[in-house]
Amino acid sequence: MPMERTFSIIKPDATARNLTGAINAMIEQAGLRIVAQKRVRITKDQAEAFYAVHKERPFFRELVDFMVSGPVVVQVLQGDNAILRYRDIMGATDPAKAAAGTIRKSHAKSIGENSVHGSDAPETAVKEIAQFFSENEIVG
Ligand code: CMP
Repeated sequence: MPMERTFSIIKPDATARNLTGAINAMIEQAGLRIVAQKRVRITKDQAEAFYAVHKERPFFRELVDFMVSGPVVVQVLQGDNAILRYRDIMGATDPAKAAAGTIRKSHAKSIGENSVHGSDAPETAVKEIAQFFSENEIVG
């Protein structure tokens, strides 16, 4: 299994409810290592660029407004097969469909306010990490 890095965001609904530590505990208990992390407020331009792939979707505006509505914690997670493993740990996008024990089942409020983001593929992970971190901020 490849040692991989994936990009994660703990979203404003979760930071507002003081869930950063609880989510980080779920990540670490599942065997992924948090090798970079910072709490930031992202700008509208950053959110629009980050979610550009969704710009024609009806929820795009709502998504961008939500992501700039409060602080987020951006992270790089590292481990064997980290991209797919983090998607398993997060659970389905819609918390109503997420499996028991996943972050979204435990904490997400709705399909929009769904507590966490994780990269969906290796190319996306590289792009998303580079949008928020320089290589010397990532310490494995
Ligand atoms: P994320 O993994 O960050 O990637 C795209 C996001 O769009 C997704 O999580 C959801 O938060 C959001 N999203 C997807 N579908 C909807 C929807 N129907 N309404 C609002 N937001 C959505």
